[in-house]
Amino acid sequence: MVKILMLGDIVGRPGRNAVTTHLPSIKARLGADIIIANGENASGGMGIKKDAINALKKAGVDCITSGNHIWRYKEIIPQIERGEVLRPHNYSGKTPGSGIALIKEKKSGIKIGVLNLQGRIFMEPTDNPLHSATAAIAELKAEGAKIIVVDFHAEATAEKEAMGWFLQGEVSLVVGTHTHVQTADEKILPKGTGYITDLGRCGAFYSVLGFRPQESINGLLTGMKYSYKVSSDTVHIEGIIADIDNESGRCLSIKRVRISHE
Ligand SMILES: [Fe+2]
Ligand SMILES: [Fe+2]
Repeated sequence: MVKILMLGDIVGRPGRNAVTTHLPSIKARLGADIIIANGENASGGMGIKKDAINALKKAGVDCITSGNHIWRYKEIIPQIERGEVLRPHNYSGKTPGSGIALIKEKKSGIKIGVLNLQGRIFMEPTDNPLHSATAAIAELKAEGAKIIVVDFHAEATAEKEAMGWFLQGEVSLVVGTHTHVQTADEKILPKGTGYITDLGRCGAFYSVLGFRPQESINGLLTGMKYSYKVSSDTVHIEGIIADIDNESGRCLSIKRVRISHE
């Protein structure tokens, strides 16, 4: 059995510091073998820089996934190209990097495939994520992945739920990111795929998606654009921990994680 910890979008310095400081003890306490975290908001609340990638890896994150904000800092394109951070797989063939990774779990030697996809509803145009998933999963299986986990970075709940049903039995986990609010719908679908609509966020709990509420309120009151400021009010680390059977790849258990270090 492999225990996989998946963390929701890490928002700004408060979220990043909480993860880098506490991840080693959380890993030990939960008995996690593999840690996958979404880093698309890790630097300044939008995007991720080189130092944040390196710090998260050093703290024990085995694979960093991302989403629509991954293109904010062009300095990391070499790291994207080297697969040190994943970008959603369903961008055009000309986009640097890829949304798939194969990582080896040390204890069992088992190969775990990670697939990062982006939704198309209420988001910027990308290629079809379902078609992209089918091709990527075939590729990961051909490379020997026994377990495959999917971070579906999407806005619409229905698109995420539909992806879970579309991939059930094909992958071990389908988890949603991007909406930054943890949903209470974790479940194991009938064919053995663990699912949750959104992992939540690693960042301020008393906030709007990890940002100070005032700028959001100002924007809603006036219709003007305000730049969001990262909040540090009551930082939580949120995600899921799942047990996956080595042989069948079936999800045996999926539980929400919400840890406060205040
Ligand atoms: Fe995000
Ligand atoms: Fe996003």
